[in-house]
Amino acid sequence: MIVVLGPASQDLGRKVADLLKSRIVSVIFKTFPDGESYLRLDGDVKGEEVVIVQTTGPPQDAHIMQLFLMVDAAKDLGAERVTAVVPYLAYSRQDKRFLLGEAISIETFIKLIEASGTDRFLTVNIHKEGVLKKFSIPAENLSAITLLAEHFKNKGLAGAFSLAPDKGALELAKEADRVLDGGCGWLRKERHRLTGEIRVEEKRFNIEGRDVIVFDDIISTGGTIAAAVKMLKTQGAKRVYAACAHPLLVGEAQRKIMQGGAEEIVGTDCVPSPVSVVSVAPLIAEALAKIGV
Ligand code: R5P
Repeated sequence: MIVVLGPASQDLGRKVADLLKSRIVSVIFKTFPDGESYLRLDGDVKGEEVVIVQTTGPPQDAHIMQLFLMVDAAKDLGAERVTAVVPYLAYSRQDKRFLLGEAISIETFIKLIEASGTDRFLTVNIHKEGVLKKFSIPAENLSAITLLAEHFKNKGLAGAFSLAPDKGALELAKEADRVLDGGCGWLRKERHRLTGEIRVEEKRFNIEGRDVIVFDDIISTGGTIAAAVKMLKTQGAKRVYAACAHPLLVGEAQRKIMQGGAEEIVGTDCVPSPVSVVSVAPLIAEALAKIGV
């Protein structure tokens, strides 16, 4: 098996290859002056089982295009089978038409990744698990929440309360609670369809003097987590931590969350960032080994 180190996930790809003791193919890449992507697989993939590791965090469109180019090149160069490992799947939040005329962007992505020749798809903490049903090729979702919760447990936070900042993240809080064992809950959040403004409904928890960890799949602008952290602090929480699989951390996100009263933000290397201290490499390597790639 060969692991291709996608430009957006080179460190993670190398860690996965190390764990699986697989050969590596690096990618030579550049952006032309007009913005187009160029890349070249720097090794032979003919007749090989190929795994391409490429996340699709910002700049999403460029990273997605690189992914299509890598898959198509690998197939065209005679790869036996290509598995795309996309730790953060961009565009998965638009999985239906909320307003008339909207593009259902995740469906467009799926059509294109399948058309590029991908044989199998693997991702981590996809925004909605149901999206997997839209794939025609085998597609699997892994969860990094247990790894994140173990990270906090190792820091002495066993017994912390796990909170989901909206109902969609409740399964994440439940997963974390299986490790931390301090109880879990969720908030009701509303986002204005046009302005994107976030409103978190006031809800009381029995958290006075306790540590709380807010778990979400994505931290983008930080608005969701910052609102949750502020509410928890006003309810007397001792220390509040923010955790996510995908730290996109757009603009002032980190500052917003820390100013809201958080102790720390912890993310994974699904998206490389200054807070990506938990690696999903063991999770991905284990899944690849299990499916016999
Ligand atoms: C949305 O439902 C997601 O699970 C996240 O809560 C959301 O993407 C976070 O966005 P932001 O950081 O911009 O509030």
